[in-house]
Amino acid sequence: MYRSKSILILLISLNIIFIKCIIAFDACEKSDRGETGCEEQHSRNFYGEEVNVIYADVLVFTVATNETHGYNRYIDSVRTFGIEPKILGFGQKWKGGDMLYPGGGWKINLLKNALKPFEGSEEKIVVFTDSYDVIFLGQLSEIIRRFKDTGARVLFGAEPFCWPNVELAPQYPEVTKGQRFLNSGAYIGYLKEINNILNRAEIKDTEDDQLFFTKAYLDKDFRESNKIQLDHLSEIIHNLHGASDILEIKTVEHKEGPETYYLKNRETGTEPLIVHGNGRSKVTLNYLSNYLPNGVWNSIDGCVSCKKGQLDLEKIKRDEWPTVLLALFVEMNTPFLEGFFKKIHQLEYPKNRIHLFVHNAMKYHTNQVNRFIEAHGAEYLSVKQIKPEDGTTEWAARDLSLDQCLAKNCEIYFAVDSIAHLDNQFTLKLLIEQNRTVIAPMLVRPGKAWSNFWGSLTKDGFYARSNDYMDIVHNDKRGLWNVPYINSAYVINSTLLKTYDRSQLSYNKPTVDADMAICQTLRDLDVFMYVSNRVDFGHLINADSYDITRTEPDMYQIFENEQDWEEAYIHPDYPEELNPQHKNEQPCPDVYRFPIVTRKFAQSLINMMESFGKWSSGKNEDERLEGGYEAVPTRDIHMNQVGWERHWLYFLQKYVRPLQEHVFTGYYHDPPRSLMNFVVRYRPDEQPSLRPHHDSSTYTINIALNEAGKDYSGGGCRFIRYNCSVTDSKVGWMLMHPGRLTHYHEGLLVTNGTRYIMISFVDP
Ligand SMILES: *[C@@H]1O[C@H](CO)[C@@H](O)[C@H](O)[C@H]1NC(C)=O
Ligand SMILES: *[C@@H]1O[C@H](CO)[C@@H](O)[C@H](O)[C@H]1NC(C)=O
Ligand SMILES: *[C@@H]1O[C@H](CO)[C@@H](O)[C@H](O)[C@H]1NC(C)=O
Ligand SMILES: *[C@@H]1O[C@H](CO)[C@@H](O)[C@H](O)[C@H]1NC(C)=O
Ligand SMILES: *[C@@H]1O[C@H](CO)[C@@H](O)[C@H](O)[C@H]1NC(C)=O
Repeated sequence: MYRSKSILILLISLNIIFIKCIIAFDACEKSDRGETGCEEQHSRNFYGEEVNVIYADVLVFTVATNETHGYNRYIDSVRTFGIEPKILGFGQKWKGGDMLYPGGGWKINLLKNALKPFEGSEEKIVVFTDSYDVIFLGQLSEIIRRFKDTGARVLFGAEPFCWPNVELAPQYPEVTKGQRFLNSGAYIGYLKEINNILNRAEIKDTEDDQLFFTKAYLDKDFRESNKIQLDHLSEIIHNLHGASDILEIKTVEHKEGPETYYLKNRETGTEPLIVHGNGRSKVTLNYLSNYLPNGVWNSIDGCVSCKKGQLDLEKIKRDEWPTVLLALFVEMNTPFLEGFFKKIHQLEYPKNRIHLFVHNAMKYHTNQVNRFIEAHGAEYLSVKQIKPEDGTTEWAARDLSLDQCLAKNCEIYFAVDSIAHLDNQFTLKLLIEQNRTVIAPMLVRPGKAWSNFWGSLTKDGFYARSNDYMDIVHNDKRGLWNVPYINSAYVINSTLLKTYDRSQLSYNKPTVDADMAICQTLRDLDVFMYVSNRVDFGHLINADSYDITRTEPDMYQIFENEQDWEEAYIHPDYPEELNPQHKNEQPCPDVYRFPIVTRKFAQSLINMMESFGKWSSGKNEDERLEGGYEAVPTRDIHMNQVGWERHWLYFLQKYVRPLQEHVFTGYYHDPPRSLMNFVVRYRPDEQPSLRPHHDSSTYTINIALNEAGKDYSGGGCRFIRYNCSVTDSKVGWMLMHPGRLTHYHEGLLVTNGTRYIMISFVDP
């Protein structure tokens, strides 16, 4: 009876402490977005600096020498909760050993010093965390409440590895649940006991702090007298290394307003409030920080955090926009390179602010690259080209382009590889306005999951898929994403290039691809890489099966790069032909004429045939046919002779069939069948005309590949029943007419030059 009463009293008094503490912290904490409603409650922190949060009983510390991206993220996260930490070591040279990340005894010595002014305030609570790889996910009041709940006087985070000295593992108390070993990246404790630990032994700046704390913890008497515990279950602190896959981001939907996010430990059911991306887990931390702390992203507002710190170039005169080094890389034979250059040229950015750098490693593309530079080079501030015959490697060329950026005093470095098609002409402007050190526009192979970023990494630094990868690639989630790897097109703020020389920041690492090398370096330097799909920027070309031994290899890319194939080869007026309001041209009864392919297509097809060169004899005997006999022979080459039949049949199905269904309504045959697909050549000295005949087809198509009156004289097609001729053939336009029975026709005499037409007998 007596006992339980005392517990009750204790509970009541604890309660009072909680309430007091909650009042102390909640009174003035900022909202999720960092706005504060308590300006009038500004107060001085324990260093006499003015802060807008009262936390007199809690001292929050971190260590950072430099303002890295991780540091800024830490600061953003704590400020979200109205916490103003004291930063130790800022602006000083790192003294804790030869690693960028805090990990040394220096941290302990800094904290020891920082706590000196508080002698006598032994019941103050100290919250210490690293900064570069830590984010806060909750209110300080809640952190303190949970800390007090543990009954510990000092609480360290726990992790699954005994580090740095594995041999100490057996000395650790066993645990049945959660993580067993101490991690010193985050801890909380009363000033008195924290001081006891810090002063337990001397430590040199370069000695290992985790070992120092481990020894204190493993000293059983010391541990018990100071009530030191580890946060085995991640009630407050979660160390990610080796324990990231037990974490998940939970979503809470709300009746009104956007959903909210929090972190949950699936194994222990806890919801940690301080996350430490120790060791190799920085990539995971970066992933988490795309959603956490709650408020940085949601499905309604998209990325809230990416709207911070943007530039507005519209406010600046175009002549004063940042100078750019635009570095183009043709490192492989690439389909649709003309389209690539066209989009580069169309970028909505003043060319008198752009220095051009081109590395072409491919002999095959020499003419295309030269044509672009000859046509447009002079519009840019300067042009530098490295040619295939210079023998420069990709690694060296990319490094040279960085140097060139510095030599030209550029503000922005913009690398674009030949497979990156920037369909959005505002790409460069938007990326610069986003104001991130390294940022890529998301580019995806149309209809595929192949993109220019990785959501995650394997242990060896190769591709791994993050949980949200498909959502991002499909634009189900739009935003600005911190990712471990980008390629193909990206902007780098030249401030970064000025900070590191080529021995520190380079594409040139033996054994790995240039892009992997630079991304690994950036990760090691704590430089965040972002990929943006806030809007559509463009797409990636698939160069995997590009066969430059073909004549006109782009023509063969209808399957691999359909979108680009269409852009290059389908007549821009084609879609209008399917518009019900549009009147299709009908030069003779039931003979329709449509624009269907571009001049480029027509010329390419002629080139394919002429380079193959084996025109048929024009005799009745034809070994290419099953029966070996052709009643109305022409001088021609069949599509299958140039390996292009599959492609042609797909073209028939995708582009020709809809036109047929549009004008000859009620006839459906999908896919259309066609055994005879060929290009015919008429010329005076060979075969100048074709006698009247019926086609053995349901309908026939006839595409003019060159120009009447220019490339040849005479020619055309006469439909005898109607005494109607089409002689003004237009390049890329297609005649379509019924085959057998009605449209008995002849090929009119070509009197000079050469006429080429493409014929298919559809559904014979
Ligand atoms: C970090 O800051 C120090 C002092 O401000 C500076 O000397 C050093 O170059 C910085 N290092 C990096 C990696 O930015
Ligand atoms: C651009 O980013 C830098 C670095 O984060 C920041 O200092 C600057 O304020 C930003 N610019 C604007 C206009 O927000
Ligand atoms: C580049 O970064 C620096 C430092 O963060 C920033 O001040 C500057 O505005 C950035 N420049 C551009 C063009 O984004
Ligand atoms: C066919 O048309 C041409 C010119 O359009 C005309 O000169 C000729 O007389 C016509 N022939 C017949 C048989 O109607
Ligand atoms: C035939 O075509 C060639 C080349 O297009 C041209 O030079 C020549 O004058 C033409 N001859 C006649 C008779 O039209």
